[in-house]
Amino acid sequence: MSAVILDGKALAASIREDLSQKVQTLIEETGVKPTLAVIVAGDDPASAVYVRNKERACIGAGMGSIVDRLPQDVTQEELEALVRRYNEDDSIHGILVQLPLPKHLDESRVLELIDPKKDVDGFHAVNMGALLSGMEGFVPCTPKGVMRLIESAGIDLSGKNAVIVGRSNIVGKPAALLLLQKNATVTVCHSKTEDLSSFTKNADVLVAAVGRPNMITGDMVKPGAVVIDVGINRTESGLVGDVDFASASEVAGYITPVPGGVGPMTIAMLLENTYIGAKNSCAKA
Ligand code: GUN
Repeated sequence: MSAVILDGKALAASIREDLSQKVQTLIEETGVKPTLAVIVAGDDPASAVYVRNKERACIGAGMGSIVDRLPQDVTQEELEALVRRYNEDDSIHGILVQLPLPKHLDESRVLELIDPKKDVDGFHAVNMGALLSGMEGFVPCTPKGVMRLIESAGIDLSGKNAVIVGRSNIVGKPAALLLLQKNATVTVCHSKTEDLSSFTKNADVLVAAVGRPNMITGDMVKPGAVVIDVGINRTESGLVGDVDFASASEVAGYITPVPGGVGPMTIAMLLENTYIGAKNSCAKA
């Protein structure tokens, strides 16, 4: 292996440590305890794990954590009533509705109901629009964590070819905007892209966010590239990313492992966004 490992676990731990100090100070100075409300509906096993990790991380940083576990057959009205209640509750600074929701629920209607000032996921159209136009707002946690990891390695993105594989609202699209803000030349590839490797082979920075185990192999990677693996795929051989680590790490200059790369950064950024929400609520009061 030649690539330098981008250790998201270690970076996330230091961000969380730093945040817990800031949380303590905020509580001492204002009495406001940053608090996150997480709503999860149904029994998706992956969601259950993510939500438990988010809850533990909040408590570990001295923040408040509320988790509502709703049944699979919860109605749209019940879910919306809960979001409305948290919108009105001044002791809640972040609201996160865990995705995916059960099929009968209208995801975008729920997300658009969240007060943009409490939308720590950054999925509300107001926050997405702010990101698009370079205004202040909540930035989605996973792409924000990706940028932090790249910055931590001291990598200058200006003029570099950045290729993102995946065009989701959660990762691909916001990652494209953040890389563009740093003056990268950005290409977004997706399931209909023809000759994918002709793009990936030119990428100085390659972000894989498709949810297909080991699909990016070493022969698709430019020598010395920064390879960021956002995939978390549960397979018979355990947790694997979208990048075939064994072959890609022979070619890349930097690479994130799975687990221990982007995943822990997502949670650290969620805590940071919740802290920002709490801090902003003080400024407003
Ligand atoms: N499901 C997978 N990733 C995420 C995320 O970042 N936020 C929410 N709310 N749901 C998710």
